[in-house]
Amino acid sequence: MRTGGRFLAACRREPVDRPPVWIMRQAGRYLPEYRRTRSEAGSFLSLCRTPRLAAEVTLQPLRRFAFDAAIIFSDILLPLTSLGIDFAFSDDGGPRLREPLRGPTEWAGLRYHGPGDDTRKVQDAIASVRAALPTDTALLGFCGAPWTLASYLVEGGTSRDHAAAKAALFSHPEPAGKLLVALADAMAEYLLAQVEAGADAVQVFDSWAGALSPAAYTEFVVPATRRLLERLDEAQVPRILYVGGGSHLLPSLVPLPVEVVSVDWRTDLLAASVALPGRSVQGNLDPAFLLAPPDIVGEATRRMLAAAPAVGYIANLGHGIRPDTPVESVDAFLAAIQGGS
Ligand code: CP3
Repeated sequence: MRTGGRFLAACRREPVDRPPVWIMRQAGRYLPEYRRTRSEAGSFLSLCRTPRLAAEVTLQPLRRFAFDAAIIFSDILLPLTSLGIDFAFSDDGGPRLREPLRGPTEWAGLRYHGPGDDTRKVQDAIASVRAALPTDTALLGFCGAPWTLASYLVEGGTSRDHAAAKAALFSHPEPAGKLLVALADAMAEYLLAQVEAGADAVQVFDSWAGALSPAAYTEFVVPATRRLLERLDEAQVPRILYVGGGSHLLPSLVPLPVEVVSVDWRTDLLAASVALPGRSVQGNLDPAFLLAPPDIVGEATRRMLAAAPAVGYIANLGHGIRPDTPVESVDAFLAAIQGGS
C-alpha cells in the first residue's frame, strides 16, 4: 500500500480494503503507560513541551492497537503562546487562561509574534514520530478552529453554554471578526509548520461549533475558518474539520475547503455524506459506548459501520475517548472494524 496507507486513501475517496480507523485522544489517561510518562514529565504542559516525551506518548497507542493514523500529542491551547496568551491546566484537567480577553480592547491587543518555541517543539516531535512510524501509518497534525479558540479566550476556560463568547460575537461583530481572522492566520502558519515537519494530514477542531445557529455560524465563523483552510491549499495535504454537535450546520459547511468532515454521534454519517458531496466523513461512535461491556461495544460499532458511506469513510469516535475507558473496549471497537470478531 502507498504512503499514508488506507487513511490517506479514504481521505481522497479512493477504494480501501476496510475503513481506516483511529481514535480522538488516543494518547491519554485511559492508558497506564501514558499516566507513567505524564508523571515522569511532571505535568501535562511539560509533557506537551518536551518533544521526546510528546513523541513517546504519540506512539504509545500505536504499539498496542493497529490504528491507521497517529495524531501528534499536544493541545489546541499550546500555540496561543505565540499570541502572548498565558494559560495553565488545573488538576481536574481543564485549561484556564490567566487573563481572559473579555472584550474588544483586549482583543485589539493580540499580536502574533511569529512561530515561537512551542511551534519548534511540536515540529521536533512530529519529525521524530514520522521517522518512527511505518509509511502506511499516517501522522496527523492539528489545531483549534478560530471559534473554539475564541471561546477559550473570552470564557477563560471550558464553558457549558459559551454565552460570553456568543455575546462577544453578537455585540461586537467587527472586532470579534478580526479576532477570529487573527486566530485563523496564526493557526494557518502553525499547521503549515506541522506539515513542513512531516504531518501527512491536518485536523482542525471546532469542538464548540454546535453552540451556534446556522446563521451565526455562517456569518461569523465560516469566513475565518475558510481563510485558515484556504491557506493550507499550498500544503496539499488532506484537511479534516471536526464539527462538534453540528448536525444542524451541515449545509453551512459546504463552502469550506475540506476533504473530510468529522462528526459526532448527534450527526448521521450518511446525512453528512449526502449534504457534503465529494467530501469524506469521519466518526462517530458515542465515546460513552466504550464504558459498556465489549459485546455491546462490538454491536454498536457494527451499527455505526452499517450507517457509514461506502467510499470516503474513516472510522472514529464522535469525540475524544474518555479517561475511564477500559482498554478492552478499544480492542472490541477495533475488532468490529478490522475483523477478528
Ligand atoms: O488526540 C490526541 O491523542 C492528541 C492530543 C490532544 C489533546 N488535546 C491532549 C489532551 C488533542 C487533539 C487535544 C485537542 C483539544 N484540547 C480540544 C479539541 C478536541 C476536543 O476534545 O473537543 C480541546 C477542546 C482541548 C482543550 C482541553 N485540553 C480540555 C477541555 C482539556 C481538559 C479535558 C480533559 O480531557 O482532561 C484538555 C486537557 C488534555 N488535552 C488532556 C489531554 C491528553 C488531559 C491532560 C492530562 O493528561 O491530564
